[in-house]
This record gives sequence, structure tokens and C-alpha cells, in this order.
Amino acid sequence: MIPEFFIEDLLRRTDIVELIDTYVHLKKAGANYAACCPFHNEKTPSFTVSPDKQFYHCFGCGAHGTAIGFLMEYSGLGYVEAIRELAARLGLPVPEDSSAPRDGPRMQALTEIMARAAEYYYEQLKHCETAIAYLKRRGVSGEIAREFGIGYAPDGWQNLASAFADYSLSGLQQVGLVLRNEQGRLYDRFRDRVMFPIMNPKREIIAFGGRVLGDGEPKYLNSPETPLFEKGREIFGLPQARQSLREKNTAIVVEGYMDVVALAQHGIGNAVATLGTATTAAHAQKLLRQVDRLVFCFDGDAAGRKAGWRALENSLDILPEQKTIGFVFLPESEDPDSFVRAQGAEAFERLVGDAVPLSEFLMKELASHCDMTTAEGRAQLVAEAKPLLGRLRTPLLRLQIVKRLAEASGFSQAEVERLCELQPVAQRPPARSPRQAPSLLRRLLRLLLQKPELARGVPLEALPAHSEEARAIAKLCKVMQESGDPEHAVLMERLRGSEEEPVLREAAAELMRHALVDEDIDTEFSGAIRQLQESERKRVFAQLQGKVAKLGVSGLSGDEKAHYLQMLARPSVEQ
Ligand code: UTP
Ligand code: MN
Repeated sequence: MIPEFFIEDLLRRTDIVELIDTYVHLKKAGANYAACCPFHNEKTPSFTVSPDKQFYHCFGCGAHGTAIGFLMEYSGLGYVEAIRELAARLGLPVPEDSSAPRDGPRMQALTEIMARAAEYYYEQLKHCETAIAYLKRRGVSGEIAREFGIGYAPDGWQNLASAFADYSLSGLQQVGLVLRNEQGRLYDRFRDRVMFPIMNPKREIIAFGGRVLGDGEPKYLNSPETPLFEKGREIFGLPQARQSLREKNTAIVVEGYMDVVALAQHGIGNAVATLGTATTAAHAQKLLRQVDRLVFCFDGDAAGRKAGWRALENSLDILPEQKTIGFVFLPESEDPDSFVRAQGAEAFERLVGDAVPLSEFLMKELASHCDMTTAEGRAQLVAEAKPLLGRLRTPLLRLQIVKRLAEASGFSQAEVERLCELQPVAQRPPARSPRQAPSLLRRLLRLLLQKPELARGVPLEALPAHSEEARAIAKLCKVMQESGDPEHAVLMERLRGSEEEPVLREAAAELMRHALVDEDIDTEFSGAIRQLQESERKRVFAQLQGKVAKLGVSGLSGDEKAHYLQMLARPSVEQ
């Protein structure tokens, strides 16, 4: 864990304009800087960087974030990696939290151990006829073996002793290469296995998967979780795929090491694997930062469809607008490796091109266990779709699914929207037209983002209950109170991953277009607060008045009555 104060310090010391300019050439545009967006293809620049607020926003694709976010999106780094990168740029050592172990070799030393081990396994492969024959039989060329760093861990208990001067080095155990048995004897984890190194985006080796040559169990033995390797986040084949991902703007997600290797062998370089675990939101998010389209590839059996469904569920919340997800289900008992070897690259590319869109897969799966011949079954279909639709952030895709649900269920589109408690999409245009006045709460939110210290003056009790802007305002006030007036970028980092983040991002982006002059902010703010309190008073008054209409003044409690009379006397309440 890296302490919060250090992250805040980093953000304060980093100039986002300077940082981004080293990757994307920025031009001054008014108060901001602009460039063609590095995250989607465009001819006119809609990627904007704010030097005041230290964030970037693309008005074309919605990419948005701080300096940390930029490094994550642009370089495909994880959060912690991005922080380390920023620290390295500034030449600052990263302090570890006191809860983290301070002794033992540091990360750098651990990756060096992994690199040394990989080198050793790679050398050993050259001397092992059976392992070479195995890879040849599976169609892996020497060139691809080198590209993926495939090696061989020889049979025997302490082979790594010949690769490292000190076999009892604690780092070897920390990275999971060496284990200690009950008698205290040290031994190699990987023995007589073909070794697949798993690399992070910087091509550092963080784990291994080792395959038995024959039928032994387990088929693949993997590194345990270590300080370098967190399962459920890492993706096999990412550095090798980088170039091809850029070119094709699509990532093919398969299940196995050999699937990635075999596809690469057939010239399909944009495949990566999730290493046998279910596809997590972290996986999908990582990949969608680099490409606009994900195609998940699963076996054609029941297990494959189940895995596909989990990938769908895990992708719903993080699927950004203008990005798409497709599903390929291979013929029974085939995997991408066997398929591409039997049918060739073109046939495989065709499958990817014909991938089932997310909306269709979702509908098919739901319909498959609802009896569509009965009214109950059709209602069940809509009920089951409800939680899924609620998680989608992309109005267009949601609309598409709503339409299909309407067709399949016999309900009207409006009925489906009501049953699923969705706001009609048409009323939420993705970009507000500049002439449309923003709502009071939206204005208030913008003001707070422009000058966060105003948060102290927000009467939280006057915020309406059912508004995402109100929730965002409340959250912002809370974070401000907890963290003692942080700067904008720090504030945004604190809100990373929160439910309110999307609204806050939108409002921050609007700021970039309609920045306020500093002197006007306070006046605008007090005006907005007055309006807010006024509308809350009106709401309370209308509620009391309703009660009076039904029950008479005697229906009110003592407090209510006093309140009501006091309000009646106020000239500001319009009736
Ligand atoms: P599969 O069982 O589909 O194997 O597991 P595969 O990739 O087709 O392997 P080959 O072609 O027989 O060599 C898919 C992935 O699940 C993980 C591995 O990452 C594997 O590539 N796995 C599988 C394990 O980690 N351990 C196992 O014992 C099996
Ligand atoms: Mn296979």
C-alpha cells in the first residue's frame, strides 16, 4: 500500500500538461490545451487538458482523468504502477505503508529474480529434446517460443540452485519459485514442465504457468499470488499483443496460454488470455483502455457459455460508450488453438468478425430459461433483465436491449422502461446542447468542482433525495470534509471508482467549456444555494399543504403546524 499523502503530493508536483505532452503533442487552446485524442481515432482535436484543474477530458470519446488516470489509460498500467511511474519521473522514492513488509528484497529485486529464472528456463529448453518435440508437435516455432519467452523447467528438485548463487535467498520463495517442505528442505516449484512467463505491460516477468508434457495433474501449475502477481488482474500475452491491438483496435480474449501462442503463430497477434480465471471487470477495463472492441472467445459447451455469461456480467458496469463487446462460441470440443490449427487464420478471423453482440447474447441467454410462450415467462424475462440494464452506462446499448426486450415480451418499449425503472434514454442526451440551461443542481455541482472549498456552505439537508447530481454533491462535500480541502486532481482520485464518479466527470468536463471567472463564483454560489433552499421549502410546503387538504390543519402534528403557519406568513412562498 502506498500512503495517501504521497499520492496527493505526487499529483501536486506533477504538471499534467507537461506529462501528457511527452506522449501527445499538445497545442494551447484558450485556457486549455488540446490534441487529437490518443484514445480514439479522430481528425479534429477534442482531447482537452486543463492546466488549472489538472485533468484531461475528451469530448469525443469521454476519456477523462488525472495524471494517474492518463498513465493508466495510455500505457495500460495498473493504479500502483502508474503511481510508481509518476514518482520515477520526479525522481521520488515511493514510501511503502508501514503495514507492508519492509524487510526482504524490494519489487525490483523480485522482478530481477523472475527474469533470471526465465532466462534459465529458456536456456534449458534448448537442451531438452522431449520439450522441444512437444512444442513442435503443438506447432510452436522457435521464433514464437522466443517472443513469448517459453522455456522448460527440468526434472529434479533443486535445479534453480544452479541458476542462483544463493538458493536459500528469501526472494526465491517470495516469488513462489522455491518452496520449503515440512523438513525444512527447499525445492523447486516447477519441475519437468514447459514454462510460460506471464509479463506485465512493462515486459517484466511476474509469474509463470508451467504445463506438464504428458497427462499429469495439474495440467498447468501456476505461480501463487505474490507481491508481483495478483490473480484476476493480469492478462497473458499483453506486451506481445500491444502492436497488434493498436492496429486492429480489437482484443480477442481467450482462455489459455496455448490459445494465445497458437493464434500468434498463425499471425493473429491481438489475442490475450485471462489464465483460466473468469474474466473480471479489471481485465475488461484494462483491455478497453487500449482498444474499442473486445471479443471474448469461449468453448462451445455449457461451461463455455457459463464463462461467457460471467464475462458479460463483469463487463456491464465498465463498458464505456462507443466501445463494443462480442462473443464467439467455438464448435463443441474445440479451443482457439485447435480451431486455428485445423481451419486456419482466415476461418478464425471470420468467427471474430461474426461475433455475437452483447445485446444478442444477453437476450438469448435470458430467453433460454424463460418460457416465452406464457405471459409469466415473458414478464420473468423483463424482470431478469432489470438488474443487468440498471448497470449499463451506455444509453445506446441500453436502448437497443430495451427494444429487443419489448419485441420479445410483448410489452411496449415504455412499459419495459417503466418495469425496469429506467429513465427514458431520450431524455438523457449524451451531450447537453450548449444553449440548454443546466439544472440548478448541475450548476451547483460545477461551482463546487470549480471551487471545492465552497462545499462547507452547502446545506446538505436541502438536497433532493432522488437526483444523481445531489448524490454527487453530497459525496463531494463528504470527501472535502474528510480530506481537508484537497486540490481538484486529488479530489478526483479520491472519488475514483465511486458510484458518483461518472456524474462528477461529466460536470468537470462541462467546466472546461464554460469556466467561470473567479469573481463570479461566490455570487453564483450564494444564488444557487438560495434557490436550492427555496425549492426545498416549496417541496415541504406543498407536502404540508397536501396533508391539510386531506385532513385539515388539525391533521398536522404540533411541529408541522407551527412550520406550516410560519411558511404561510412568508411572502417568498408562491402558492
Ligand atoms: P484448458 O484446460 O482449456 O487448457 O485451460 P488449454 O489452454 O487448452 O491447454 P492445452 O491446450 O491443453 O495445453 C485453460 C487455461 O486455464 C488455466 C491455464 O491458464 C490454461 O491455459 N489452467 C488450466 C490452469 O491454470 N490449471 C490447469 O490445471 C488447467
Ligand atoms: Mn488447448
